[in-house]
Amino acid sequence: MTQGIVTVSYIGASILFILALGGLSNQETARRGNLYGVLGMGIALLATVFGIVTSNYGVLLGGILVGGIIGFILAKKVEMTQMPELVAILHSMVGLAAVLVGLANFLEHNTAITGVNRTIHDVETYLGILIGAVTFSGSVIAFGKLSGKIGGKPMLLPGRHWLNLGLLLASIWFGNEFLTQSAAGAGIQPLIWMTVIALLFGIHMVMAIGGADMPVVVSMLNSYSGWAAAATGFMLNNDLLIVVGALVGSSGAILSYIMCRAMNRKFFSVIAGGFGTSGGTVASSTAQTGEVTAVSAEEVAAMLTESKEVMIIPGYGMAVAQAQHTVNEITKALRAKKINVRFGIHPVAGRMPGHMNVLLAEAKVPYDIVFEMDEINADFPDIDVSIVIGANDIVNPSAQDEPNSPIAGMPVLEVWKGKTTIVLKRSMASGYAGVDNPLFYKENTRMLFGDAKSTLDAVLKAITG
Ligand code: TAP
Repeated sequence: MTQGIVTVSYIGASILFILALGGLSNQETARRGNLYGVLGMGIALLATVFGIVTSNYGVLLGGILVGGIIGFILAKKVEMTQMPELVAILHSMVGLAAVLVGLANFLEHNTAITGVNRTIHDVETYLGILIGAVTFSGSVIAFGKLSGKIGGKPMLLPGRHWLNLGLLLASIWFGNEFLTQSAAGAGIQPLIWMTVIALLFGIHMVMAIGGADMPVVVSMLNSYSGWAAAATGFMLNNDLLIVVGALVGSSGAILSYIMCRAMNRKFFSVIAGGFGTSGGTVASSTAQTGEVTAVSAEEVAAMLTESKEVMIIPGYGMAVAQAQHTVNEITKALRAKKINVRFGIHPVAGRMPGHMNVLLAEAKVPYDIVFEMDEINADFPDIDVSIVIGANDIVNPSAQDEPNSPIAGMPVLEVWKGKTTIVLKRSMASGYAGVDNPLFYKENTRMLFGDAKSTLDAVLKAITG
């Protein structure tokens, strides 16, 4: 394959990746966006394997085969509810690849590069490995937290900000050492020390972040993985890797910004960790006491059919129960009775950005009745019945009322302002952030206990007779 064909393929792949990102920003075009991404990656792989690589085809194809098979099996096996963990562990792979490629590239030590070019190349190598190592260890911890293997509470070491500052200064010092030694043909020692420091920093950074702030961490690590790839692209002189890395890095950064705004957090405060804490200890929200009013599926059906305005608030529990199809059937039945049904989606409902939108789209809920939190939060006083399906943190009034709560300041759907709220969940257990929810004890709240799929099936049966 000639260099010209490789360049044209790279430009084509870059355009397809940009179209993919554009497509993924909207549920109606997301499928097409995905297809563009797959196509772009296919072209990129073919052009690289047959146009750039000149030897070691056996090792390369063996690696692609093994990696491809593992990826295929994982993607087939993974449940929708495990998607965020999968994304986190995939970010860790990008980080690990950046570290290994950076180290291999340095060990090969291309003596043809000298002077300023040598320094620039070394800076690229150093940054690629640094960001890659932070991404790798941070993503492994994020995987542990999202899958529940590591507790959600922030780990707050005394003087943690000083520790972070110390690690940063040490990285800069080793960077200087590396540049000096590399010019003389050495430098592996400072490189290894920096890698260890960056790995420790990644672990410490994510361990210090509380459960409710994990959405920001996932998108932030996504962004890091992009910048690591871009730095590797500079190091390898590969234009496509630079473009792809920059696209992933900047879209991840924008997503982090959106997530921070949705949760009313400042980006730097989140990565400094320790939200929901006071004086270095984890704040616990006031334990809730009082009576809750349980209702039956038949009573819920009657309340729904007697209302004019219904708001459905889906959360993580709807994904666990896989209740989205029944939700759609109930929506159809109510709309057939001329009841206005709308959906209110919190930006961090579920466990990944757009989680609820994907499930509702899968169940074929019409897009025009699905609204973002900001679009419908003021409408609750006019709502007859809000039905909260396996959601908890996103409808928790303590985010507004309790300044010490781990979710304090996070905007929430103000369901309690409606006439009646029905909460569907299995028990009185707390949600992801581990905070009690005063909503359940409000006078106008009714609890329908049980797995959301079974309870909603019973509600549907009662509505349709
Ligand atoms: P959560 O606050 O986690 O609450 C989900 C509720 O669903 C639980 O209280 C649980 O109660 C109930 N549930 C679980 N399985 C159920 C089932 N089969 N049937 C019925 N109910 C079931 O979820 P949320 O309100 O969607 O809030 C999301 C939380 O996750 C936020 O804290 C957010 O910060 C965090 N988070 C979000 C993301 C993104 S990007 N969206 C990423 C990481 C973390 P029972 O056990 O009593 O049934």
